Amino acid sequence: MSFRVAVLVSGEGSNLQAILDKVHGRGGVEVVCVGSNRATARGLERAQAAGVETAVFDAAEHGGDRAERDRVLGDWLDAHGLDLVVLAGFMEILSPEFIRRFQGRIINVHPSLLPAFRGIHAIEQALEHGVRVAGVTVHFVDEGVDSGPIILQQAFELPYSADVEATEESVHAIEHELLPRAVRLFASGAVRIDPENPRRVLIEERADV
Ligand code: GRF
Repeated sequence: MSFRVAVLVSGEGSNLQAILDKVHGRGGVEVVCVGSNRATARGLERAQAAGVETAVFDAAEHGGDRAERDRVLGDWLDAHGLDLVVLAGFMEILSPEFIRRFQGRIINVHPSLLPAFRGIHAIEQALEHGVRVAGVTVHFVDEGVDSGPIILQQAFELPYSADVEATEESVHAIEHELLPRAVRLFASGAVRIDPENPRRVLIEERADV
């Protein structure tokens, strides 16, 4: 039986590429579809090159009504019988109805150590703040902005001369390991919410994941 994954992208799609390269078609994991809010997202080309179905869901085509767009997107995702929806650089806030529809099976990758530096330009925010340690978070998506329960985090130290470009490079290198690992953990059934504290995510450590 396969573990069916959808990925939503808005731009470059380097995290999608990491998932395609590192987990797609292995251990029963299949990326079955890739959606975007932008027709020009490079991520769509990456998906097509891997033979994965793609579609564009631009709110402008729904008269700017994002909730309506999210309903159509949700129907498309549901038609694929998904186990997990991965937001990988999807740059729009999804409606509360959409989030509720996929609750517990939708995750996001964010370029900071949450709960620090939520929202856009997280790397710039962190550098502006003068942090000495930066990092990456993979978390469940809830109705807030980058506020859902944390699944995986990885930190790294910043050089004193840190600039945005070099930090972005370090962040991406970590994201490209952490996000595929999160997908593998879900596929192996290792991830669950602590029944005693819904903020906490319990991960069953396994040597092979
Ligand atoms: C990543 O840095 C991710 O953390 C953020 O958006 C960026 C997407 O990059 N949410 P890419 O499109 O996967 O290359």
